[in-house]
Amino acid sequence: MTGLPSPATTPLLGHLWRWTQDPVRLLADGARTGAVFELRLWRRVVVGYRPDWNRAVLGDLETFRSRGSLSGLTPYLAGGVVYADVPGHDVRRRELNPHFHSRALTPLADRLRAVVVAPTEPFEALHWASRTVRQMLGAAFFAGRVPDPLLAAFLNPLQRNNPGPLVRRPLLFRRLDRAVAQVLADPPDGTLAADLAGLPRAVEEIRVALAAGYDTTAHSLAWALWHLAGAPEWRYPERIDDVLDEILRLYPAGWLGSRVVRHPTTVTGVDLPAGTMVLYSPYLTHRDPELWPEPDAFRPERFAAGRPAWGFIPFSAGRRTCLGAHLARLMLRTALTPFCAGKLGQVEGDPSIRSSITLRPAGPLWIDRTF
Ligand code: HEM
Repeated sequence: MTGLPSPATTPLLGHLWRWTQDPVRLLADGARTGAVFELRLWRRVVVGYRPDWNRAVLGDLETFRSRGSLSGLTPYLAGGVVYADVPGHDVRRRELNPHFHSRALTPLADRLRAVVVAPTEPFEALHWASRTVRQMLGAAFFAGRVPDPLLAAFLNPLQRNNPGPLVRRPLLFRRLDRAVAQVLADPPDGTLAADLAGLPRAVEEIRVALAAGYDTTAHSLAWALWHLAGAPEWRYPERIDDVLDEILRLYPAGWLGSRVVRHPTTVTGVDLPAGTMVLYSPYLTHRDPELWPEPDAFRPERFAAGRPAWGFIPFSAGRRTCLGAHLARLMLRTALTPFCAGKLGQVEGDPSIRSSITLRPAGPLWIDRTF
């Protein structure tokens, strides 16, 4: 692992200080030193972002393990399918996957649409998107039977700066688990709760899915609204999928993934001893000018030319690909479609990137909607 390039360090602290201040910038600096580089955080980590790295790290679940990865630092993600490894991981995905395929989700469309109330006056997009996504998750999973204030109490810490999402909240988690278990005991028809009731560990899987699906989708929605407000030529229902891809490319909310090497291995010529923590980064991959010309520009039309294999990974890829990718796209499309009517304008805001567990816009993002 020695001999890898590395961005500038702070004396004594390695990269830890810069990591706590602005990890996205640190990664971007690292990417300029090489396709695979090293960071000295509280432990050494090896980071790569080219497609061959992504294919190797995401394609081999036997060697690259979730247990011991950064997900373990937050109680929101240290459980369920997110934190399981093969062979148990494959078993869980086989149970869960059929309920999250796009066709299986079609019956949810009406429930989701019913939640979306597009404002008819100026609004702050991050606030609106967060409430709307929370209510859509509540409708999709429970038909609203888990009280929204409880969902809000559970999910809000995910949007706080670190260490907010890292703090253990056993009482709150138990309250949510009890409410979910109650719904699972007699689930409303046509909900994800009805689909998942009876699966082993359904309460835990639902809790983890809510956490994995909330701020990721809400932040993507807020950025999408902001860009749509600045680009009227893209505000047509048939163009929204390209807009979404471009938003997910520019601002992949799940910007960083980590794994721990189980058996010594070599990836793209780099030897990785057992126990090494490796990172992949949808953010770095999506901003690589060799894969995406003018990577910082908002240009949804670029998707007409296709996408590089293992070079567009907003939902990761391989057998650990995001369980909720289709649900996320359905929620985003459903929430954005009403905004194709009327006029939208950016009033004022700061869409630049801030990072915590997920990426989010610095905000606020004030948008005007008129008819
Ligand atoms: C725009 C919204 C979303 C984005 C950008 C996103 C992104 C991701 C990414 C990058 C991963 C891989 C993480 C890793 O490698 O460690 C992932 C995994 C996961 N996501 Fe999502 N996600 C989104 C929405 C959702 C939703 C709505 C759900 C709800 C079902 C969800 C549930 C999950 C689960 C359960 C996993 C773990 C899968 C596994 O390890 O097998 N996500 N997501």
